[in-house]
Amino acid sequence: MKIGIIGSGNMGRSLGILWAEQGHQVFFGSRDAAKGQAVAEVAGHATKGGTNDEAVAFADVILWTARGILPSNLLSKPEALNGKIIIDCNNGDIPEGFEYPAIIESLAEKLAKDVPSARVVKAFNTMAQEVFELAPEPLRNYNVSVFVAGDDELAKKTVMQLAEEIGFVPVDSGNLRNARLIEGLADFIRFIIIGQHKGGYATISVNVLPAAETQRLGGRQASSLK
Ligand SMILES: NC(=O)c1ccc[n+]([C@@H]2O[C@H](COP(=O)([O-])OP(=O)(O)OC[C@H]3O[C@@H](n4cnc5c(N)ncnc54)[C@H](OP(=O)(O)O)[C@@H]3O)[C@@H](O)[C@H]2O)c1
Repeated sequence: MKIGIIGSGNMGRSLGILWAEQGHQVFFGSRDAAKGQAVAEVAGHATKGGTNDEAVAFADVILWTARGILPSNLLSKPEALNGKIIIDCNNGDIPEGFEYPAIIESLAEKLAKDVPSARVVKAFNTMAQEVFELAPEPLRNYNVSVFVAGDDELAKKTVMQLAEEIGFVPVDSGNLRNARLIEGLADFIRFIIIGQHKGGYATISVNVLPAAETQRLGGRQASSLK
């Protein structure tokens, strides 16, 4: 795959290197072409670097790491994203005291509204960047979930494959509206890691359990609750 990175900071550099290690062609984009090129030089694996516009022109799949910055404000031709997959890994600012506001519209939905002909997928926002250092091994042993939400099924499948390749367990999380839930989940994870000073990096793994063979607690009774 041809993957373009928008914003060559911590997330862009880490995921770009991991995908390049898997044999994908990666272009590190930046507001400063020299920075993109410098990141590519460090990354190796025949990666390239330059401007964000060049990254979009190069790629079929784009990782968008510029928090809260919309394509119409960052790219000279936002329509160059039409038909392309955009992975939105962003989370909101952490407010004072972790008093997060309710998420009415997710960052991913705002991105999709700005470029309605692009195929936006929410993913990779619920784990700390430090976790990527463990990828793909020994990460694979820990079954860490990547929650993947989007309205385009094929785009979602592509992103799930990219997650699997680097040692995560992709979890199909429904349509893009569910990015509201996933961003809320990331807010909670950041509270646990940073706010509760647990040490290390908390992650989430979805485990699907079998039903118990006996129902000694009475089983689930009919309820009027939805
Ligand atoms: N770090 C983590 O552990 C982590 C984990 C999960 C999700 N996330 C989310 O992923 C996103 C990126 O995080 P990060 O850790 O990679 O941050 P970062 O290291 O600060 O990188 C973000 C990049 O965005 C670009 N950028 C920043 N301000 C911009 C602006 N005004 N206009 C255009 N581009 C701008 C910059 O790229 P250039 O200088 O190259 O232009 C910057 O390097 C955030 O939304 C964050 O919440 C982070």
